[in-house]
Amino acid sequence: MRVLITVASRHGATQEIGEWAATTLRARGHDVDVRDPAEVEDVTGYDAVVVGSAVYVGHWLAPARDLLARHADDLRARPVWLFSSGLSTQPSAASNSPHELGRAIELVRARGHRSFRGRLDREVLSFAERATIAGARAREGDHRDVDAVRRWADEVADALDGVRTSLVAG
Ligand SMILES: Cc1cc2nc3c(=O)[nH]c(=O)nc-3n(C[C@H](O)[C@H](O)[C@H](O)COP(=O)(O)O)c2cc1C
Repeated sequence: MRVLITVASRHGATQEIGEWAATTLRARGHDVDVRDPAEVEDVTGYDAVVVGSAVYVGHWLAPARDLLARHADDLRARPVWLFSSGLSTQPSAASNSPHELGRAIELVRARGHRSFRGRLDREVLSFAERATIAGARAREGDHRDVDAVRRWADEVADALDGVRTSLVAG
């Protein structure tokens, strides 16, 4: 199946999570494009879409939120999965605005959302970002778990196998 993975990322950690997921989906036989959400003009060429974003100050990044709003009708017509990456020191439920996330899931009727632990490298942060996290108990380092991402992408692939079977049977 043709799958679009589109990820909003400021410093590359979430982008790479999307690429890990793409590798797993390709190994499961899917034709996967990884594209910047700001450049996605049309999703109708895809059988399924995965949308990811880094979480900053409790919110998804604007390019991912905009993509969901811009293509909501077309996204609702195909299977969609969402994922986020955020600081590992915060419980996943607290790292995203539950209200905002709930609205996003509803908007595109997403099949699910997964929070992954992210990466914090103070060296690459802007002055404003450093100031924002100065008071937070943010643990520096790469807390991403590639195996957790692969397991999740395998679950997505299992679900797509189900979609494919129902299309063939249908
Ligand atoms: C200024 C700033 C604010 C952040 N705010 C949050 C937050 O509210 N919740 C969270 O879980 N992670 C937060 N993080 C952590 C990032 O989401 C995490 O580092 C992520 O993996 C970065 O992804 P990126 O490299 O794709 O931009 C914040 C990081 C920075 C630098």
